[in-house]
Amino acid sequence: MDLKIALLAGDGIGPEVIDQAVKVSDAIAKKFNHNIQWTPALTGAAAIEAVGDPYPEETHQICLAADAVLFGAIGHPRYDNDPSAKVRPEQGLLKMRQKLGLFANVRPTFTFPSLLDKSPLKKERIEGTDLVFLRELTGGIYFGERGRLDGGHTAFDTCTYTRKEIERLARKGFELAQSRSKKLCCVDKANVLESSRLWRETVQALEKDYPDVEVAYEFVDAVAMRLVQWPNSYDVLITENLFGDILTDEASVISGSMGLMPSASVGETNALYEPIHGSFPQATGLGIANPLATVLSAAMMFEMSFGLMEEGKMIRAVVDQSLAEGMVTEDLKENGEKGISTSEVGDYLVSKILPS
Ligand code: IPM
Ligand code: MN
Repeated sequence: MDLKIALLAGDGIGPEVIDQAVKVSDAIAKKFNHNIQWTPALTGAAAIEAVGDPYPEETHQICLAADAVLFGAIGHPRYDNDPSAKVRPEQGLLKMRQKLGLFANVRPTFTFPSLLDKSPLKKERIEGTDLVFLRELTGGIYFGERGRLDGGHTAFDTCTYTRKEIERLARKGFELAQSRSKKLCCVDKANVLESSRLWRETVQALEKDYPDVEVAYEFVDAVAMRLVQWPNSYDVLITENLFGDILTDEASVISGSMGLMPSASVGETNALYEPIHGSFPQATGLGIANPLATVLSAAMMFEMSFGLMEEGKMIRAVVDQSLAEGMVTEDLKENGEKGISTSEVGDYLVSKILPS
């Protein structure tokens, strides 16, 4: 199969972790006889430096022409503490999501048997957790009207949703639930917010199309609590943009490491795969960044964009092996034990895919 992939390494540790995902994907391509054509493009602070735009038009065209986009991380400390900065790397990410129509952000949370002790949560609570958040990604307060009034002394951000936006996300949630345990949880704040009431109404109206799916409606504050108390009780959760942003960071604690969690952002025609962690600027160039979340994002890409399930499965298997054998970066080590470097993890994974 010919796979055309746009490669957006981004900032901080982005390029280092992306390199490992490329190595692993190329090894998989060799093993299964595929032909990957990678097209690198600029995003984030790197793109601001080069052309003054965190998501330049040229990058957009490269993404549109590709079958899938593999993305590293975005963000640079130079912009973080400067509320007056006119252009920010994160704007590139938002613009990219919007222009590519990536309305559904798929964020799985699962545990690895060998890492149960890494989570700050009790082992017996998190064991067997396997849930997926579907976060709406191109609407809500992230994209609503915002501004200042009263000479700058009052500020507002608005959360707007249309029935259509809710429905297309919710349908993906129902379909995902059908392929899993047939349990769907709609997370909202319908006791207070009008936009949440529209979410609930819309999802309720869809229930009849998916009679085999059991739907629960829960308030976001309660979910925030139950998520760490009984993560096992959830399977597929759908929610709006900001609630999803917050809850998926919270959920990453269950797995014990942000460095392990992959994600996919999909729309009608485009799809992007990225680790959920940020650009970790302090670690840039030190060779300590954990590449596994990006490698697992590549596994999601093989499966979801190309239907190549065996390929994805093999990537997951070698990642499990690296965890079981302790061939991991220092963030997954205990008691001051030294890890191997970012690129050594990549080399190890490749050696397991293509034993010499
Ligand atoms: C994420 C990030 C982004 C978001 C930021 C960097 C704009 O936190 O992908 O979750 O808030 O969506
Ligand atoms: Mn976030």
